[in-house]
Amino acid sequence: MKISVIGTGYLGATHAACMAELGLDVVGVDSDAAKIEALSKGELPFYEPELPELLSKHVKGGKLKFTTDYSEIADCDVHFICVGTPQMKDGLAADLSYVKSAFAAVAAVAKPGSLLVGKSTVPVGTAQELAKQMPAHTELAWNPEFLREGFAVEDTLRPNRLVVGVTSDRAEEILKEAYAVNLKEGTPWVRANLPTAELVKVSANSFLATKISFINAMAEICETTGGDVTVLAKAIGYDPRIGNRFLQAGIGFGGGCLPKDIRAFMARAEELGASQAVEFLKDIDAINLRARKRVINLVEKELGLDLKSFKIAVLGATFKPDSDDVRDSPALDIAAQIHAAGAEVTIHDPKGIEPARKRFPALNFAEKVEECVSGADLILHLTEWKEYRELDPAAIKKLVKQAKILDGRNMLDREKWQAAGWDFHALGRA
Ligand code: UGA
Repeated sequence: MKISVIGTGYLGATHAACMAELGLDVVGVDSDAAKIEALSKGELPFYEPELPELLSKHVKGGKLKFTTDYSEIADCDVHFICVGTPQMKDGLAADLSYVKSAFAAVAAVAKPGSLLVGKSTVPVGTAQELAKQMPAHTELAWNPEFLREGFAVEDTLRPNRLVVGVTSDRAEEILKEAYAVNLKEGTPWVRANLPTAELVKVSANSFLATKISFINAMAEICETTGGDVTVLAKAIGYDPRIGNRFLQAGIGFGGGCLPKDIRAFMARAEELGASQAVEFLKDIDAINLRARKRVINLVEKELGLDLKSFKIAVLGATFKPDSDDVRDSPALDIAAQIHAAGAEVTIHDPKGIEPARKRFPALNFAEKVEECVSGADLILHLTEWKEYRELDPAAIKKLVKQAKILDGRNMLDREKWQAAGWDFHALGRA
């Protein structure tokens, strides 16, 4: 089977390399010529663990090719559309222009009998609308992805489920052939109609966002009552109906998916006259953004309302560890807000400095943690990279001006830092 993958961002590049690993011949397509040139040399233009090895293995082995030219995918049996659906600049809805133009470009070259499969996260109803516009000799299906950045290869090679939205048995059979290796390994397979497949993705992300905002709401209550949200999360998480994952309280969720997906869901529900059903997502979004504000309030409580004469060290710029993605990053947003309030902010991040600098060139960046914290009045731990958990509080104390730290991710060992003489603050912990 020969397939194409349209769009070579976090999703598409991962899908392309992993499908080659699963034995298919793959052609990746993107309109960004520089990206295609890098990928063709086996170079990954972003950071994702395990992906560079897979990419170079299959580019060298000839199973994976990249091009900007759609005519080169005319002989493919299946086309996976993996382009982005970012939030519109002027509203909550998703921008579908990339999806629409990718489908149109594939439709213009697709051979008779080929299957066009959307993987992008789209508002419910999009697939049915697109299907009407596709040539009669092709078929459309929707196959949402659930990969997490930082674990993208693992999640694609060994997904916890495969969901296919199809309108015929034939389309399902083609997808079963594409995912034959996963099926053989016992990956659960869910066949759905098109709207259900689209909804599975947005409802899964809405549920995850709800879990995070729930625990962050409990953190707010803990702060006013003397409770400890980390103990609370542990205790409720032992109930298997609740589960302990995605109950990490802190500065909340960011990235290119959760925030824009819940907003696009609200926008779509409103268009459909069903806004009441997902009105709670407004609160989920508000709780999430409030966590950033709570950090700023804590900083002002510690240092005073006028931050002008203070140096603040920020550990972490990416929206989560093991990624260089700074899209809607709570860490970077907090750093920028504190900088705007007058403080001198220096940011360290193991992988995200360049993307962060591109976004906020006025901020200071440091290559080493020691340089970042040097002379600081306060350290903010905002992305839970492993290397920050391994810092020696006693050694760091010698470099700062004031031994004050705020753990925005509830991941540092509070007792260890306090024993070394640090004034330790965290969200949701009295
Ligand atoms: C998310 C979903 O987890 C994936 O299943 C989905 O495929 C993907 O979006 C997508 O739509 O493409 P991702 O954006 O990579 O994946 O990141 P997550 O691991 O979900 O984390 C999202 C944010 O929530 C991060 O900022 C993280 O720090 C935060 N988070 C996560 C918490 O604040 N607390 C937690 O307990 C867990």
